[in-house]
Amino acid sequence: MTHSPTATIHDQQEEIKKLAQRRNAVILAHNYQLPEIQDLADYVGDSLALSRIAAETDADEVVFCGVHFMAETAKILSPNKRVFIPDAKAGCSLADSISAEQLRAWKAEHPGAVVVSYVNTTAEVKAETDICCTSSNAVEVVQSIPADQEILFCPDQFLGAHVQRATGRNNIHLWLGECHVHADISPTGLKEAVAQHPEADLFIHPECGCTTSALWMASHGDFPAERTHILSTGGMLEAARTSTTATVLVATEVGILHQLRKARPDTQFAAVNPEAACPYMQMITLDKLLNCLREGKDEVDVEPHIADAARSAVERMIAIGQPGGGE
Ligand code: 13P
Ligand code: SF4
Repeated sequence: MTHSPTATIHDQQEEIKKLAQRRNAVILAHNYQLPEIQDLADYVGDSLALSRIAAETDADEVVFCGVHFMAETAKILSPNKRVFIPDAKAGCSLADSISAEQLRAWKAEHPGAVVVSYVNTTAEVKAETDICCTSSNAVEVVQSIPADQEILFCPDQFLGAHVQRATGRNNIHLWLGECHVHADISPTGLKEAVAQHPEADLFIHPECGCTTSALWMASHGDFPAERTHILSTGGMLEAARTSTTATVLVATEVGILHQLRKARPDTQFAAVNPEAACPYMQMITLDKLLNCLREGKDEVDVEPHIADAARSAVERMIAIGQPGGGE
């Protein structure tokens, strides 16, 4: 008997859930994962929410359907648990934009500065960091640092510029890194999308290349400020649940559209750049997840001295800001 493609997906999802139960493993999926992965996960969320769950879970194993730095963060927080990722090659262009060696050299140029690193960094970079942040609590993290304290913010220049604007601080130095997916959500693309949907609300992830343009349009009367929202992916979901608008233009990786449409089937969600798919997030497939649970790989390890050096920066991050907050 041949199975329809849908039955095959369903069968794989059921087998994955059974294997996870047998291993006492919790399956975490980032909001950018493929829909069939999101639908079977125990928890779907943004980086901050998933880090908190990884820190608190009483499961023996964490299976991270996301990218490598997320699984590393889970391992840093829960060193006694086994942490897996279905494909260890699922990296991140943003995390690759600064190395520990580069950060050490930058710190040497600014002795005494506080280092704030986005969670999209390697464990080695976190080990050189004072406090990590995610897109949902970056502003609160910086506000928690005394106003006269010089800050090195890395690696995302667009998130960093948003934090500079939101806090009004002029003592934040930015590392000029970027995520290639979000950088490609451009000011031109945003203007075209807004021209096609002038009545829409805008949900913009602060990693986007169009973030500054969106705020410029809002402050110069080119687009209503009350319809311009800078949000993490978790913040987008919260905003969608209470939104009364018919159309929302979404500027972030397209995987989030699945959760948004599930949360609000009555709302039209349109991607500002429909090509904005993260190749690393999409490396996590049902086949690889099944294999991961059957064979116990790829297991993620962080050298104990690196994990120990990185832990307080990550713990400070998860203590600040509410899950899914954003603006
Ligand atoms: P969130 O902080 O919304 O999870 O987005 C981070 C991101 O870009 C993950 O790759
Ligand atoms: Fe990294 Fe960008 Fe992919 Fe997020 S969307 S995992 S920041 S490359």
